[in-house]
Amino acid sequence: MIRPILKYGDSGLHAPAVPVKSVTDQIQGLIDDMIKTMYAAPGIGLAAPQVGIGLRVFVVDISVGESPTELITMINPSLEVCNGDGVITEEEGCLSLPGFSAMVERTDEVVVSGIDRDGNSQTIEGKGLLARAFQHEMDHLNGTLFVDRLRGIKRELIVRRIAKLRRNGKW
Ligand code: NI
Repeated sequence: MIRPILKYGDSGLHAPAVPVKSVTDQIQGLIDDMIKTMYAAPGIGLAAPQVGIGLRVFVVDISVGESPTELITMINPSLEVCNGDGVITEEEGCLSLPGFSAMVERTDEVVVSGIDRDGNSQTIEGKGLLARAFQHEMDHLNGTLFVDRLRGIKRELIVRRIAKLRRNGKW
């Protein structure tokens, strides 16, 4: 089932998510729905809070369904930066901020550890776009969106445009 994606401003997106206690059938169903929702959007990643579920789960597929081996499901992930110097600034968007994007600074290389949907531990190293996607989805689990990483006028501009869209019933 494709689930509706919450947009910036919805309280579910701005609170930290809690760990999954066990990978039940309900969690399996959530993961299936998240994958379908991500591909339908289409997007390269989706975190459970974006579909209104405050649990530490995200899915990422930088091939957007083109290459099945690239689909990653992470439950209760933790993220480690592996090269502190490699920072890259690139354009970033988010399914919870349709129509908006901005240049966002991210570490170029990270390692994410967590459990997969079969309950096994997994550790995945990500570089470039995958590293960016991991950091973006980890942010979602902590109640942070890319706009929150912008400063000053750049952030203000997006926040004001969203407020205007909301006033006009378009958000
Ligand atoms: Ni996002």
